[in-house]
Parts: sequence; structure tokens; C-alpha cells
Amino acid sequence: TGNVTYDPGYMNTAGVKSAITYIDGDQGILRYRGYPIEQLAEKSSFIEVSYLLIYGELPTATQLEEFDTKIRRHTLLHEELKGFFDGFPRDAHPMPVLSSAVSALSTWYQDSLNPFDPEQVELSTIRLLSKVPVIAAYAHKKSIGQALLYPDNSMNLVENFMRLCFGLAAEPYELDPEMVKILDLLFVLHADHEQNCSTSTVRLVGSSDANLFASVSAGVNALFGPAHGGANEAVLKMLRQIQAEGISPEKYMEKVKNKEDGVRLMGFGHRVYKNYDPRAKIIKKAAESVLAKSAGGDELLEIAMRLEEKALADDYFIQRKLYPNVDFYTGIIYKAMGFPEKMFTVLFAIGRLPGWIAQWREMMEDPERKIGRPRQIYTGSSQREYPQS
Ligand code: CMC
Repeated sequence: TGNVTYDPGYMNTAGVKSAITYIDGDQGILRYRGYPIEQLAEKSSFIEVSYLLIYGELPTATQLEEFDTKIRRHTLLHEELKGFFDGFPRDAHPMPVLSSAVSALSTWYQDSLNPFDPEQVELSTIRLLSKVPVIAAYAHKKSIGQALLYPDNSMNLVENFMRLCFGLAAEPYELDPEMVKILDLLFVLHADHEQNCSTSTVRLVGSSDANLFASVSAGVNALFGPAHGGANEAVLKMLRQIQAEGISPEKYMEKVKNKEDGVRLMGFGHRVYKNYDPRAKIIKKAAESVLAKSAGGDELLEIAMRLEEKALADDYFIQRKLYPNVDFYTGIIYKAMGFPEKMFTVLFAIGRLPGWIAQWREMMEDPERKIGRPRQIYTGSSQREYPQS
């Protein structure tokens, strides 16, 4: 096989050079375009961070306003695309609905098929940022049998999304500014994470000169798995199971440590962070503040906190450097906001979208770009002859 290195999971292989996101997994550092995540979480917004990731610099006030206005103006879905939602079973998971609808954008915007036309790339960028939250909200509304609302362009992306998810056609929708702020914060924290599984997928698909919609649709599918974005939904299932069965966090930990039925402590561990995930630190605080306001969710938060406390003091986790990751507390917050569990990974996808777009665009402009084509170590049979009769 020649000069091939075997590296399952690409643990030690850098396939790209990137100037977007910096992670130091040992120290628990995350920066977008050089800005520490803690500062962006405190001072920035999802729209501003999207601009930063995609264009490389923080926008001026005018640039930010123009960007925001463009996004507000492209929120409408083609009426026929809205019909798309009727084609799926009512109880469909919204992730495959989202990936299908994103893929279908190529059929409505056929000029987008050329990934080297900068004007089209820009238009596809804006269309994705505008329409993905609307598609996500419609997938949710369909699943609960409610009417789809038209976007309201007087609202920003996050406000609009909340209204499209929770508003009712006959009644004005009153936004809860604190919830809007926290959802915006969660989107900021999810916005990019260098060459994770879904982003690498977006790049790999794009490396064949597939357009932005096709590449991002593939990214949504990669995010769906429980080892990646699907972990936020899996965490909540785990917490509810512990609650329903009345088992103690200690007992659950025993199951995890004995690897019974492959049980893992969902929301723990990370390929790159061998220290507390800096996003999880910020999210934990947000969870406490959301739950201080709402009734009912506190018990799950308590179970989560006890699991965390036990895990951080346990040799199994210490030796393997397993810490809470971004997904550990998000589900509890989303639940308190009123999102059903099936929507959790969709919320991750909305947050990760600007990262996917920025990484795809960076790759397409890279003069060293090559089609992604890993090699293999062949383990099959050597040549053998087809039976004579
Ligand atoms: N619970 C129990 N044991 C674990 C866990 C966990 N959550 N994560 C890793 N381990 C153990 C694993 O069994 C292995 O032990 P051993 O050496 O005895 O075989 C060791 O730690 C190394 O694990 P690995 O699977 O080789 O590590 P990886 O870098 O390939 O996997 C991971 C990283 C995130 C897939 C994994 O930690 C995991 O499955 N975590 C749970 C799912 C999760 O929370 N995913 C979200 C990741 S962060 C955000 C995102 O990407 O969406």
C-alpha cells in the first residue's frame, strides 16, 4: 500500500490548514478568530459571531446592520418548499427533515450549483443563515400539528426562531428577553469547533466541488449521531431514565464504569478536550439561571450535577481525562425553554451553521485544496479464482 499511515478516527492527522478556530484541549481553551470564547459569550451575539467566523473580522456597526438586515430579508421559504413538510410522517425526527430540506434548497436555487461563483456563494451563505432556523421551526410545528407562521422581519434571527417555534397564529407572541439571550448565547457557544465530525464532513463533501447546500446537508446528517450532536438529546434521555428508575447516580456510574451494554456517561468526554470543556463551564451557569426561573426541571439538573461531581472525583474518569462537554447541560436548558427532546440536536445545527459555512468557504479559497480521498489498509482476501462451474 506504499507510504500509507494508519490513523483510525484521524487522531493525529491534520488534513487542513485553518485560520478560523483555535482549541487547546489540554488547557481547555477555545477561540474564534483569536477571540476567547468567554469574551464572545459575554459581549457578542450570534449574528456578530457568524460574521466574525465567515468573514474573519468583527463587523463594524454598519457591516453588522447590513448583515443582519440581509438575513432578515431572506427568511421566507418558497411556498412549494413549505409543502415539503407534508411529505414526512408527522412523528419524523426533525434532523433528517432539516437535512432533506437543506439539500432541497439546491433545487430551488439552481444557480447555487457552481461553488466558484462568489456572488452565489454569498447568496447561499445568507440563505442558509436565514432559512435553516425557519426550516427547523417548521419541522417542529409540523410534528406538533400546529400551523406554520410566516417569519416576522422586525425580529432578529433568534427572536424570529423562538416565535416560529412557540407562537400561535391567532395570538401575538410575547418574547421572553432572557430566554432569547440564553438561546443566543448557546448558539454562540456552538458556532464553530474546528475539524469536528460534521465540519470535516462538510469539507469532505465540498472538496468534490459540491455546493454549499449539499455540503451543509451532509454536515447536518453527521451531527445527528449520538456520539456527536445527538449527545444533547441522549443526555436528557439518560437523566430521565435515572430519574424514572429511581437509581442513584452512584449506581449509574457503576454501570458506566463496567461498560454494561456499552453504557457511557453521555455529555462526558471529548476527542480534543482533556480538561473541562470551556463551553460547558459557561453553559452550566446558564442552566442554573434558567432553572432558577422555571419549575419542574430542577430535579434533572440536580441529577446532572451529582453525576458530574461523582465523575470528576472518580478514578475511571480522572485516568481517562473525561470531563463534561458542551452537550452535558444544554438539554436541560432547552427543555426548560419548552423545546421537545427531538429538537435539541436541531438547535445544535442552527448554532454550528456559521462554522460549517466559514469552513467550507475557507476550503474553497485554499490554493492547496485537494479532493478529500483517504487511503486504506486492505485486509481482504488476496486474489482468488472464480469457481469454474
Ligand atoms: N463515558 C464513559 N467512558 C467513556 C466516555 C464516556 N462518556 N467517553 C470515553 N470513555 C472511555 C472509553 O470507553 C475509553 O475507555 P477505554 O480506554 O477503557 O476503552 C476511553 O474513555 C477513551 O474513549 P474513546 O471512545 O476512545 O475516545 P474518543 O476520543 O474516540 O471519543 C467521544 C470521544 C466524545 C466520542 C466519547 O468521549 C463519547 O462517546 N462521549 C459520549 C458522547 C458525547 O457526549 N458526545 C459529545 C461530544 S462533544 C460535542 C459534540 O461533538 O457533539
